[in-house]
Amino acid sequence: MTAATPGNTFASNFVSDRAAGLWLSGIKEMAMLSARVDGAASLAWGIPSFPTPEYILNGVVQQLKNDEDIGKYALPDGLEELKQLVARKHKIDTGIFVDADDHVMITAGNMQGMYSLLQVITNPGDEIILTDPCFASHIQQVNICGGKPVYWSLDEDNSWSLDVDALSQLISEKTKAIIINSPSNPTGKIFSKENLLRIGEMARAHNFMILIDDPYSHFTYEHKNRYFNLASTIDLFENIAYLFSFSKAYAMSGWRLGYMIIPAHIKKQLIKVHDLNMICTPRVSQTAGIAALTGDAHHLVEYEAAFSSRRELICQRLDAISHIFGYIKPEGAYYVFPRILVAHQNSRDFCLELLNKAKVTLAPGSAFGPSGENHVRMAYCVSEDTINLAFDRLEAYFGKA
Ligand SMILES: Cc1ncc(COP(=O)(O)O)c(C=O)c1O
Repeated sequence: MTAATPGNTFASNFVSDRAAGLWLSGIKEMAMLSARVDGAASLAWGIPSFPTPEYILNGVVQQLKNDEDIGKYALPDGLEELKQLVARKHKIDTGIFVDADDHVMITAGNMQGMYSLLQVITNPGDEIILTDPCFASHIQQVNICGGKPVYWSLDEDNSWSLDVDALSQLISEKTKAIIINSPSNPTGKIFSKENLLRIGEMARAHNFMILIDDPYSHFTYEHKNRYFNLASTIDLFENIAYLFSFSKAYAMSGWRLGYMIIPAHIKKQLIKVHDLNMICTPRVSQTAGIAALTGDAHHLVEYEAAFSSRRELICQRLDAISHIFGYIKPEGAYYVFPRILVAHQNSRDFCLELLNKAKVTLAPGSAFGPSGENHVRMAYCVSEDTINLAFDRLEAYFGKA
C-alpha cells in the first residue's frame, strides 16, 4: 500500500472539480514561498506592521479573566453587545439607522463575510461584476459559488478610475451583483461619489446588489473629502450589503473579525449559511471587537499618519527606479500597483524571479484580474525598513537608471 502523502495520485480522485479548478491567491502563494526564503523583504501581503492596539488587548484580557462564557459559542449572528455597537457605529459613519437584530451580522472578517454572502445570492451562472483589477480572492469566491465573474476594466490612463459608461454594456439579466472596494485594493483608487451614485442608479434600475467590501476607508490621507460611502444612501438600502473589516484599521487581521450590514431578508438567509460555515465568529474575537468599538480608537490617526509617510517613501523609491516600474500615486488604502516596464514573461514569473534572485517579495498583478497582468502589487503597510530593504535590493538587482 502506498503511504498517504500529500499530493499522491490517489488523493486526486477525492478532489471535486470545483476545488481543483480554483487557484491559490497569488498574494498567499507569494507569501508562502517568501516564508521559505530566509531574510526575504516582503511587500506581498497587506498586513499592517502594527500589533493590535493595547486598549483592545487589555479589554480581551479582562474578559478572559471575568467572563466564564468566553470559551463558548455565541449565537450565529454575533454577540448582542457587539451588534448594538456596530449598529451605533454604522449610524455615525453613514447616518443610517439599522436594527441590530434585523440588519447586523458579525463575521469572521470580510473574506468570510463575502464568501457567505455570495453563497446566499448566487445561482449557477449568475454574473457578478468585478472591477478589473480587483481583490484577487473575489474572483475565486465567485467561481466557487458557481457564479461568473464579469470583468469591468478600470481606466489606468485615467488613474484607475471607473468607466461607468462601459458598465451599462456589462449588465445583463443574469447580473446579480457588483463588488465595490474603495479605497481599492490593489490600485489605491478612491472612486468618486458621482460614479458610485451612478452605479447605485443602475443597481436600482436593473435590480442587482452592490456588495461594498470596506477594509480601508480609514486610510484616505489628503483625499478624506473625496471618500464617499455608498452605504450612506438610504434609497439604496435594499440593494446594498456593506462589509467592514477590523483587520486593517484595528490591526486585527489574525483575530478574524468583521461585520455586515444587510437587508433583513438577506440576513435571514445568511444566518443559515454562516451557521454551516462556522456556527459563529469566535467569541474571543468578538470580545476584541467590543473593546475596539468602546475605546477611543486614537490609534487610527497614528496608523494613517504612518501609512501616509510610508506612501511618500515608496513613491520616492519608485521614482528612483522609473526605468523598472511606472506607477500612479495611490489615493487611499496602502497599496501601489506599478506597471512593469522591463522585459518579462509574465507578472508571476517576474515575481518568482525577484524572490529567488533578489529576495524581494511582490504580488503578481495577474492575480488581480486580466488587466493586472504586467503589473505588481506592493503593500506599503510594512515597516519603512522593509520598504527600504526591498528597494535597495531592487536597485542592486536592476541597476539604477
Ligand atoms: C479588498 C479586501 N477584501 C477583503 C480582505 C480580507 O479581509 P478580512 O481580513 O476582513 O477577511 C482584504 C485583505 O487584504 C482586502 O484587501
